[in-house]
Amino acid sequence: MSEIRVCAVSDLGDPGRKVVDVNGQEIGIFRLGEEVFAYLNSCPHLDGPVCQGKILPLALEAVGEDLTSSGRVFSKTQMNVICPWHGFEFDIRTGEHPTNKRIKLRKVKTQVVDGEIFVAPLRPRATPL
Ligand code: FES
Repeated sequence: MSEIRVCAVSDLGDPGRKVVDVNGQEIGIFRLGEEVFAYLNSCPHLDGPVCQGKILPLALEAVGEDLTSSGRVFSKTQMNVICPWHGFEFDIRTGEHPTNKRIKLRKVKTQVVDGEIFVAPLRPRATPL
């Protein structure tokens, strides 16, 4: 499995992202602080360009001990990418949908060497005959 340099970590904002073409595969590279993640730019819902969506913190309902809501708050730890086609959200660190962990992005292996990001492109999925 050969790894391909895609960009420098410093080329990305924080949080930030870049979508690159690697051997015909669109791959979204995400940066959260010192962490780097990569996914195929294909939404598990209907194949939308999920990695090009907005990056926002997970929105949570603030519920008190009496079970009344005091409104929405944003997570200080979880950042999501939101598919621009129909709004499915995915945790950037895990690639998982927040409420249904079986729905997830296809992860691409990454490695950072001397501030440069390398990815290992995915093997194409077998297509039915
Ligand atoms: S294609 Fe991504 S939410 Fe529908």
